[in-house]
Amino acid sequence: MMRRLEGKVILVAGAGGIGSALARRYATEGAAVVLGDLDGAAAQAVAAEIAGEGGQAVGTSLDGSQEASIAAAVALAVASYGGLDGLHANFASFRDGESGADVLGLPLDIYDEVMRVNARGFLLCTRHTVPEMLKRGSGSIVYTSSGAAHMPDVVRVAYAMSKAAGHALMRHVAKRFGPEGIRANVIAPGVIRHAKFDAVMDPAVVTAMAERIPVGRLGEGVDIAALGALLMSDEGSFISGQVLSVDGGGSMRL
Ligand SMILES: NC(=O)c1ccc[n+]([C@@H]2O[C@H](COP(=O)([O-])OP(=O)(O)OC[C@H]3O[C@@H](n4cnc5c(N)ncnc54)[C@H](O)[C@@H]3O)[C@@H](O)[C@H]2O)c1
Repeated sequence: MMRRLEGKVILVAGAGGIGSALARRYATEGAAVVLGDLDGAAAQAVAAEIAGEGGQAVGTSLDGSQEASIAAAVALAVASYGGLDGLHANFASFRDGESGADVLGLPLDIYDEVMRVNARGFLLCTRHTVPEMLKRGSGSIVYTSSGAAHMPDVVRVAYAMSKAAGHALMRHVAKRFGPEGIRANVIAPGVIRHAKFDAVMDPAVVTAMAERIPVGRLGEGVDIAALGALLMSDEGSFISGQVLSVDGGGSMRL
């Protein structure tokens, strides 16, 4: 494995299936990782595994939609590792998917919750991490979006809107702070399997979904982490302002 992230400090906000894979990859490539999640115990468990394998990681309880909680995670990064070079904003609320409603039936409290966590939360994470990156004179921000932001669906309208909002935020950050050394990009995953996904999905449905993907399989967290590591690294220094799909060819956007 390459060690492109040696000396960098990265906050991964959201430590579920994909977030855990991000943290593992960034640490394997030499970064010191602060991994935060609403489920602080889960984040700490992943960080302990990373540390047990010789990596540098600390896990913490984080509500990425709450300013004080984000500020505390940033302070933890600075106190533990001396600064911050990267943010991967990865957490999400999936509540409107659970509701199964279209735009006519979507309860507004669910709409508000999804936008508050996914759109406003990513803005707050940006606001609290950019100042630390400016102190370093460089930084990389990666936002996890979804194919839902550009592929139509009959459900999950708030989720899709919240992810599209993240694309606009990313472009703002790339344009505003590019001259000061900060890059910003979005990764839009296709369907990504992990333990939680496999626990609820019918294997026959998974097989059928995989057959519709040009590369013939669903994605895994490591597929997202592979691109994340490039974007966090200096090898990615000419990539900014982009929405990059990692979906096995499922969307093939122009
Ligand atoms: N798995 C997929 O197929 C897929 C596809 C497209 C996009 N995504 C995106 O990938 C990202 C990760 O999703 P995942 O599949 O790993 O799901 P996941 O449920 O395993 O992980 C999401 C994590 O976010 C955490 N979280 C929720 N609200 C939070 C908050 N306010 N503050 C901090 N943490 C919070 C949850 O506790 C959970 O651990 C999400 O942004 C999701 O929209 C996933």
